[in-house]
Amino acid sequence: MYTPLRTRWLRLTQMISGIFVTALLAILVWTYCRNAHIRTIRWYDTEAGSCPDSFLALNSDELAQARRLLHVVLRTLQKHGVQAALCHGSLWGVLRRGDLLPCDPQPDLCLLDSELLKAAPHLASTNEIFKSLHAAEFSVSEFDNWMGLHRLKFTLATREIQINLRLFRDCTNFYYWSHRHQYANDYPSYLPQPEPPRPRWACPAALSFYVFNWAEDAYQGFPKFLLEPPFRNLTLVNYSVSVPNDDFEMQKYVYPSDWWKEKSSVCCMQ
Ligand SMILES: *[C@@H]1O[C@H](CO)[C@@H](O)[C@H](O)[C@H]1NC(C)=O
Ligand SMILES: *[C@@H]1O[C@H](CO)[C@@H](O)[C@H](O)[C@H]1NC(C)=O
Repeated sequence: MYTPLRTRWLRLTQMISGIFVTALLAILVWTYCRNAHIRTIRWYDTEAGSCPDSFLALNSDELAQARRLLHVVLRTLQKHGVQAALCHGSLWGVLRRGDLLPCDPQPDLCLLDSELLKAAPHLASTNEIFKSLHAAEFSVSEFDNWMGLHRLKFTLATREIQINLRLFRDCTNFYYWSHRHQYANDYPSYLPQPEPPRPRWACPAALSFYVFNWAEDAYQGFPKFLLEPPFRNLTLVNYSVSVPNDDFEMQKYVYPSDWWKEKSSVCCMQ
């Protein structure tokens, strides 16, 4: 026999277990996504076995084209007063071999959003810089807020080459706030806080960065001067390309868990 009291009790327990199961699912999904996110910022830690076509190694003709395309993009930006630098896998390539890595088929360029905004007050794909790139037969994607980049695609006879134009923004306040436990003991809190001569920081202009930033081995941004022009130029076979300040210092922040290892993509080990 159910009494009304008992029915109410049943509904209550159902509701509580519903909330519990939903919370559990949300935690599982978040953990899964966070791990996937961290995997992508490891230096070449693609899941074994998964090797999408767009990640297959470049042959020598495609490599020559990729260098030329990078050069075109850098020169187009420079013509509009915007300085970008090679980064991520492309930076490893130019530092270690003076060439792109054939196994890293998507060249990466990094720049501060303030640099781009100087010349292109709106970041939509219709500004003057992107129009010039369009004239050079690139397709320019809208800004991807989640990943913090524009994708510049160029179609060759054999495949599509994608250059990632990654934007970074000043995140000094966010950085010191999210690392306050590390800085708390630097200076006694009962004394007036000095205006800190602290370095400024830059973080990816990407929502995913802020959602998953809490993991210990996720990357935490880097000192901003690393990406502040003027840049030094290095030789990429027969082109001159700009690199971030202090050579591979940036890699320590971008690949915190394996920057010191020389690795190759699983797509190149077959
Ligand atoms: C690197 O090249 C760019 C573009 O040609 C130039 O503006 C910049 O001054 C160069 N950097 C150095 C340190 O010479
Ligand atoms: C670099 O070499 C390629 C061929 O590999 C050539 O087409 C291109 O014109 C060269 N660029 C410069 C700046 O010499």
